[in-house]
Amino acid sequence: MNLHPRLRSVALLGLMVAMLLIVGACVAPPVATSGSTEAAAPVEGAPAAAVSGELNVLCIPQVEWCEGMKSEFEKVYPDITVNFVRMSSGESLTRIRNEKDNPQFDIMWGGPVDAYVAAAQEGLLEAYDSPNAAAILDPELMKDANNFWVGIYVGSLGFGTNTNWLAENPGVEAPKSWEDLLKPEFTGQIMVAHPSSSGTSYTALCTILQLKGEEAGWQYLREYAAQVNQFTKSGAAPAKFVGQGEAAVGIVFSHDIVAEIEKGSPMVLTFPEEGTGFEIGGMALLAGADHPDAAKLWFDWALLPATQELGPKYAAYQAPTVEGATPSRPELLEAKLIDYDFDFCGTNKVAFIDRFTNEMAAADNLKE
Ligand code: F6P
Repeated sequence: MNLHPRLRSVALLGLMVAMLLIVGACVAPPVATSGSTEAAAPVEGAPAAAVSGELNVLCIPQVEWCEGMKSEFEKVYPDITVNFVRMSSGESLTRIRNEKDNPQFDIMWGGPVDAYVAAAQEGLLEAYDSPNAAAILDPELMKDANNFWVGIYVGSLGFGTNTNWLAENPGVEAPKSWEDLLKPEFTGQIMVAHPSSSGTSYTALCTILQLKGEEAGWQYLREYAAQVNQFTKSGAAPAKFVGQGEAAVGIVFSHDIVAEIEKGSPMVLTFPEEGTGFEIGGMALLAGADHPDAAKLWFDWALLPATQELGPKYAAYQAPTVEGATPSRPELLEAKLIDYDFDFCGTNKVAFIDRFTNEMAAADNLKE
């Protein structure tokens, strides 16, 4: 299995849990299924369950999953009403920066942790050491040393190519490398989000800079930007538009490509052979927020295996980050992954995005 060593634990866990379930089924009486919300009970060390009122969540993953998480949480904590707004990572970072003196959100859930690294450096996050973070599979990679953020899922970047377009263009193959994206047949046929709004696109940008080194990386990015048909606001949108035939190839997290294929989109998923980037999707409390106790309840609950296994119910196929949760698509982490440096990418996020915007592609008129 060609799996990045630091993520081997995530995929191996799927196998181990499956084996334990088989053994357990032979010896144990029936128990609630792992996807059941009943398993998401209040946990030791969490604030008193008597918390009630509102919880404002800044939700970065796909809206279907945000809605699902809201209703699942409200089933477990009926005295708390969850209000969420779905926004891409870059937009979310701008929003919490602008609201620093009067935060409107209590917790940010999802989106690559590069944005959380940047937010922590800017003093926008509140440290919280959840008792449930003890179950994190790889604390060095998936948990901030100062407890400003924790990882809640993992996903790899891939390419989604429209299979009807491939059939109409005999001899053209779906891209299998970053270099393939520069081929003339893909000129004006590539769709990706803009890194200023999207964490997905920023992951692609920072992957290139790490793979090629900064000088060659920026040169590549200039040529890559010139291949793009249109930049979108949200990272997952190109998967939908490519499925509809608006462009041939989308650069998107592989779980979002899988979700579109599951919905019937004519697409094939490939990975770049030079290596691809991956995200640790993060979660953090926002500094100075109005409902810290309710936010801690969400934080603890989001780290339970049963909660992390809810993803596929809402078409979310990211891999979980805690022991005891089975990945729904472990094969998505079997691509050749680079040793993505979240500190490097988070620390340089503002500067790299400014450079991309100023030198390669302004962020005006992004496709929604
Ligand atoms: O659609 C889900 C997802 O791909 C997450 O895995 C990811 O963290 C998030 O979207 C990033 O969204 P965006 O690229 O719009 O910031």
